[in-house]
Amino acid sequence: MGMSIKAAIKDHLANNPLKEHVNNSIKDHWDYFVHNGLENGVSEQFYTDNGLNIRRFSWEDLDECAELFREVFSADPWYDNWISSYQARNYLNELIENPVFQGFVACEDSRIVAVCIGHRRSWWMGDEFFVDEFFVENGRQGNGVGTKMMNFVTNSLAAHGYNRLILLTNKEIPAESFYLKNGFNNNLERTVMQKKI
Ligand SMILES: CC(C)(COP(=O)(O)OP(=O)(O)OC[C@H]1O[C@@H](n2cnc3c(N)ncnc32)[C@H](O)[C@@H]1OP(=O)(O)O)[C@@H](O)C(=O)NCCC(=O)NCCS
Repeated sequence: MGMSIKAAIKDHLANNPLKEHVNNSIKDHWDYFVHNGLENGVSEQFYTDNGLNIRRFSWEDLDECAELFREVFSADPWYDNWISSYQARNYLNELIENPVFQGFVACEDSRIVAVCIGHRRSWWMGDEFFVDEFFVENGRQGNGVGTKMMNFVTNSLAAHGYNRLILLTNKEIPAESFYLKNGFNNNLERTVMQKKI
């Protein structure tokens, strides 16, 4: 959106140093073709570790994800005011109906404890993944579940040729530190604009 070519190339190289770029793509292709099966509990499709299972979202997960979403964002530090499960479900449903939607869930004892919902942006510099929602059950936060989920999502997407994750969050809340610890940086050249109507 409205970035000059020079700025975009600078931005792209700043975020994807050439050496890393080449190494990563060789590694991703290797992982994709050679390790695309369940090996040591980790594959591009599935991750399992000490009772935590991470896999792709499927439609049957929607109601449980909506319940969890409402619980998590009604709590500190968000205090969102979703008035019903129906309202939360409707919001997630819209994200999931997006033709370029991709989602991931993490389960413990077949209960969903973390969710990542997002969509592809087929940008001219390569495919980006926009994270629409990312959340971990209140009682399970701060135990590494979010980090494992983020790693799985990142590896899965990289294996499919994506080269960037993007998201919006609030400044100076715990989520911001979480993303900073997980390899994100703040894009200081960008601003979020809105207009009340
Ligand atoms: C932000 C969130 C996804 C992180 O997942 P997580 O499983 O709690 O995080 P991890 O345990 O993997 O990583 C811990 C780090 O994340 C940060 N963090 C963010 N929220 C935290 C929380 N509620 N409890 C503990 N650590 C949290 C801390 O910096 C922590 O680092 P530290 O252990 O060095 O203090 C999760 O806490 C969450 O769902 N929060 C509420 C919803 C939310 O804010 N989602 C993001 C909106 S864009």
